[in-house]
This record gives sequence, C-alpha cells and structure tokens, in this order.
Amino acid sequence: MAVPIAWMWENSLVPDTYDMATMGYHDYGGGSHGHRHDHQHDHAGTAVADLVEESGRPADVSVTLTVRRQDGRYTVNGTSPGPTIRATVGDLVQVRLVNENIGDGTTLHWHGVDVPNAMDGVAGVTQDAVMPGDDFVYRFVVDRVGTYWYHSHQVSHEQVRNGLFGALVVDPEDPDPAVLDRTVLLHEYGTRATLDGRPGTTAVDALPGRPVRLRVVNTDNVAQTVWVTGAAYEVWAVDGTDLNGPEPVTGKGIEVTAGGRVDLGFVVPPGGARVDFGGTTALTLGGDPSGGREAEPPGELIDLLDYGEPTGTGLDAGHPDREFDYRIGRRLGFLDGRPGRWWTINGHIFPNVPMYMVDEGDVVVFHIDNGSGEPHPMHLHGHHVLVLSRNGEPATGSPWWVDSLDVATGDSYDIAFVADNPGLWMDHCHNLPHAAEGLVTHLMYTDVTSSFSIGGRTDNHPE
Ligand code: C2O
Ligand code: CU
Repeated sequence: MAVPIAWMWENSLVPDTYDMATMGYHDYGGGSHGHRHDHQHDHAGTAVADLVEESGRPADVSVTLTVRRQDGRYTVNGTSPGPTIRATVGDLVQVRLVNENIGDGTTLHWHGVDVPNAMDGVAGVTQDAVMPGDDFVYRFVVDRVGTYWYHSHQVSHEQVRNGLFGALVVDPEDPDPAVLDRTVLLHEYGTRATLDGRPGTTAVDALPGRPVRLRVVNTDNVAQTVWVTGAAYEVWAVDGTDLNGPEPVTGKGIEVTAGGRVDLGFVVPPGGARVDFGGTTALTLGGDPSGGREAEPPGELIDLLDYGEPTGTGLDAGHPDREFDYRIGRRLGFLDGRPGRWWTINGHIFPNVPMYMVDEGDVVVFHIDNGSGEPHPMHLHGHHVLVLSRNGEPATGSPWWVDSLDVATGDSYDIAFVADNPGLWMDHCHNLPHAAEGLVTHLMYTDVTSSFSIGGRTDNHPE
C-alpha cells in the first residue's frame, strides 16, 4: 500500500498534555487573521480564565450543588435529575459546585445559556476539573427567558448518561400565574427510559381550561419524538427562544434534538391531555384521553423550517464576515493511534480538525453537511444560531434559533450567528459517545488565549 501507515499513525497521536487552542489547523473562513501572530508563544490577548461575569454584583439566585458518585450513578444534591434552578430574566445566578467524591473530577456546563467563557464548565478548555473535596463557583447573568439545562462536561459521555444533570428555567419578569408551568427531563438510565427519573406514566392534576406550558428537556444522546393526544398544541419555544406566531397542530409529533428543548403550549380539555415521549414515558394532565391505551405515534412531524410566522431576526447573513464548512464524514484511520472507522470533520480525524477562528462582531455562516451515515445533534457553546436553510431550502417560518440542531445523515444546513461572546467554545456532537470518538471542534476568537490543557498530568477529559 502506498499510504504511509506509520506516518498516519504517528500523526494521529494526541500529545500527552495539550492546549486545545493549538490543536488542528486554523480556519479563518475567508476573514481576517485578526491580531493574532499565530504561534503558540504569543500571549497577547485576553485569557479564557479572565472572561468572567463582573465581580461586584451580588447574586440574585444562589445555589449549592453537591455532586456524588455511588455504584456508578451520579446525583446532584442527592437526586437525579438534580434540582431545577429557577431564575428571573436578568438575574445573576451563582452556583457553587461541590464535588463530594467523584474521582475523575467534574464540572457543570450551562447548556444553552450564553455565559461568559470562563463559566462554560468545559474541563481543560474553560476550567480545570473540580476534584473530590474541591469546589468551583459559577456566576453568570441569565439574559434571556427559556428552558435550559446543566450537566457535567468532564468525562461527560459517562457522567451525563449516569445522572449528572438537571434543568435551569429562566422566567420572564411577570410570569402568568394562570399557566401551569411544568418542566420534564427525558433520560435513559442504562436502558430504562424515564421522565424526571421515573419510568412509565406520570399523572398531573389539572382542571379543564387550564393553559399549560410544558418544558421538555432531552438529556439523552438521541432525538425523541413527543406528541399530544386529546388537545391541539403549539410549539411555544425551541432551545430557549420563543417562536413567532406558532400555529396549533393536531396529529403531528415534534422531535426534540439530543440536548435540545421545546416548550409546548396547550389547554387542558375536559377529558384531559396526554403527552407521550418516544412511546416509552408519558404525562397525563387532568385525565388520560387514551384511557391508558398505548397512544399511537403520529405519522407526521412538525417541520420547524416552515412552522410559525417569519419576523425580523436582527441578523443579516447576506454578506457574512466568515463562512465555514463543517462537513461530517467517516473513514478508516487512526484516532490517537487506535485504528477504526472514525468521524471526520472536513476530511480530518481529531485532533487534526479545524479551529474555527472569528473576530468579535463578525457575522458567521456555517455550512453543516452530514455524509457520515448517522444523525448528529450538533451543539455550539456560547451562542445561539439561526437556521437559514436545509438542503438549500430556505427557512420560511418563525425565526428558528437553536443551540442544538439535529443533522440527519444526508442533510445539510446553513446556519448563522453573530460572534458576540469572546472565548474558546466547543462545537461538537451531543451524542456524547460520538464526541468522545472525536466529533469535536472549537470556535476561537482571534484575540483570546487559552488558559487550560487537556489530558496527561492534568485531570481534564471534557468528552
Ligand atoms: Cu450540553 Cu458541550 O454540551
Ligand atoms: Cu454524532
């Protein structure tokens, strides 16, 4: 064979300890190279560790979360899911994470909240893993309403799967007290599907006529289909952003991306309403209109590409400052010396993947393309992105902002965002074993320098 296998093997090795910012190759997306002088020993710029919330402001919500490992399961303040953190928009949330006994160390990532970079909770990228007996204080302002969640970002494919997560809900200033506001977390422990940690059907008392806001958080590795029986429903929000002009639907399901959230709105009918989650768990409100029979999964799904009414987005993606490709494939090769069929990004196997470079203020467009044979729920930290089109077909419904986007195999998406949150941000697949198999890149601001490292003598293993 003409391919220099030994060289390929050596080239694939991940150094013992490494600085994420120096991995792979810089991709400037056709934009400027900023103020970076482009070698490792340049320390000009802002360090990741310094990108924090302003220090003088007192906390509006203050929580301590103590995490523990027992018999391979993880709990937060003694339960899994952990407690739901509830705040009002504009609040400064302060969370003290205490690691009681998790030997691998742990962190908390605020999925969907665009926190200052040093509060993002990614071990080896934005902080060091918090070791047993240690603590770490997260401080950030929640500047938008919506449904979010938190989870470990240290050995995350194991810690999240086995329970280290919870919900974070940000209320508006004046929530409507007439609305029954309920959050549910979907999670499979081992092979056991649960709703808020319980299998089967959960019954909730509700009088007919009561409006409901149901916040669905998918903490699993794969997408879940949700459907409502007995009532028409609307999709009020996706990934913490309210949709514009959502229309009522019946007989259709809605898919919730792995890591994603949807808020559903409906009114409890006289016979009650039933919400099914992937056919494994269910919630009934004011009775079960199916009479306890298996509810049929709908044949059709809501397509968010044309759901709701268009309105201004404040983002003009017509002339972006940077345009990047994020092409996901799969091929034979070596990942850290191990042979296999590995995920590729623009043809490269981790760690030789692109580092997407941006300047603050840039309008950025990504062309995501999945030719890998499996779906990938893609998640960019620190930013919300606007879906422009799928397979060349433009979005025509409500502005569709996401932090987690399910990209089916064979599909391509154009997405856009404004680079308005300086830092070093992970951009990875939220099917967490895929991330551990190298489906990870980073978005880096040109004048930011890294503060942490991964592997080797550090305890940091974010995936
Ligand atoms: Cu939900 Cu990189 O995370
Ligand atoms: Cu994936």
